[in-house]
Amino acid sequence: MANILVTGGCGYIGSHTVVELLGDPSCQVTILDNLSNSKRSVLDRIERITSRRPGFVQADIRDGAALSRALGEIRPDAVIHFAGLKAVGESCQKPLEYYDNNVCGSLRLLEAMREHGVKNIVFSSSATVYGTPANPRIPETEPVKRGNSPYAQTKVDIEWMLEDWHRADSSVSVCILRYFNPVGAHQSGLMGEDPLGIPNNLMPYIAQVSVGRLPHLNIWGNDYPTPDGTCIRDYIHVVDLARGHMAALSHCLNRPGLYAYNLGAGRGISVQQIVDAYNAILEKPISYVYGPRRPGDIAEYYADATKAAEELGWRTEHGVEDIVRDTYRWQKANPEGYPGD
Ligand code: NAD
Ligand code: UD1
Repeated sequence: MANILVTGGCGYIGSHTVVELLGDPSCQVTILDNLSNSKRSVLDRIERITSRRPGFVQADIRDGAALSRALGEIRPDAVIHFAGLKAVGESCQKPLEYYDNNVCGSLRLLEAMREHGVKNIVFSSSATVYGTPANPRIPETEPVKRGNSPYAQTKVDIEWMLEDWHRADSSVSVCILRYFNPVGAHQSGLMGEDPLGIPNNLMPYIAQVSVGRLPHLNIWGNDYPTPDGTCIRDYIHVVDLARGHMAALSHCLNRPGLYAYNLGAGRGISVQQIVDAYNAILEKPISYVYGPRRPGDIAEYYADATKAAEELGWRTEHGVEDIVRDTYRWQKANPEGYPGD
């Protein structure tokens, strides 16, 4: 297919996407990652799954000289840009670090791409750019709003930077992917989500409770105006998400333009439904208690995923049962996550 540079390719979504890329024998893949939120041993896992080892450059996307060197050597046809900090709460404590890492890092990357004539980019954005939507089912025509956290604002800023670059040079092809809630793990049990410290997000939290690393789950709020009172989200299996990147990459390379797609399953699932589905596969169900609402949470939203289906020919193939089964398999086989530092 092509020669691809994957920034942040050692991370959760990046590593699953690299596995999909390497599944195409005509695809060359190099990861560039500073390992600030991932471990080098993920490269061994990728190799075990695909029998191929991606190239690896340990570098920071804010280091313009290192990026220029890497792009000059690799000469990629396209960049898939995952590298970034992603914790919403932390971004409120450390806004400048988030702008520096995500926005300044992306700017350095685009400068290096321009310098080396690399004109195709697929970017990891988030449904968080829609803020509080007018309706729970969100199409891409929903306006992008001022971010409701520094993290969200970095995604908005990078989207605008990419749009402006494309407007100034129409030969630059940009595919913005707005993820809903990525969850799950590779079916092999060799790769999955490995957060540092106590997880903030629902699925890794449940997973760690299920293997006894955490005592119980707090369900944040059961008094929302939803059928069971808990929040509703669009949980998308990470392998479906990775395949969405394959479709987006091919579109970006073959039909240069400026695109934005929602990547979600297009259906809402409640926190209670996730917990019930998880408990259905466990011998000893996880314990949970209902706590207060978590500040900033929206009762319900999910993707209108028809644009990606129509234009990319992509749709999700994994259901909630696959999500909980694969998450549990990964966590059980790797209770402490990836080995090494
Ligand atoms: P992750 O933290 O697992 O992966 C990000 C990777 O980028 C890590 O390997 C990290 O070491 C690397 N990185 C961070 N800053 C870097 C820098 N300055 N230079 C080089 N490498 C750097 O996160 P993820 O869940 O795989 O998310 C990937 C992308 O998708 C992020 O941009 C994130 O904001 C976005 N996203 C994630 C979610 C989600 O729920 N996971 C949802 C929406 C959007
Ligand atoms: C969060 C981020 C969002 C980011 C997404 C994916 C916020 C406000 N939003 O989305 O920007 O794109 O992660 O990384 O942080 N829950 C519990 N108990 C827990 C953890 C979560 O009940 O211990 C509930 C939450 O209240 C929410 C649902 O589970 O209703 C999903 O939460 P989470 O996994 O954190 O994702 P989001 O908040 O949807």
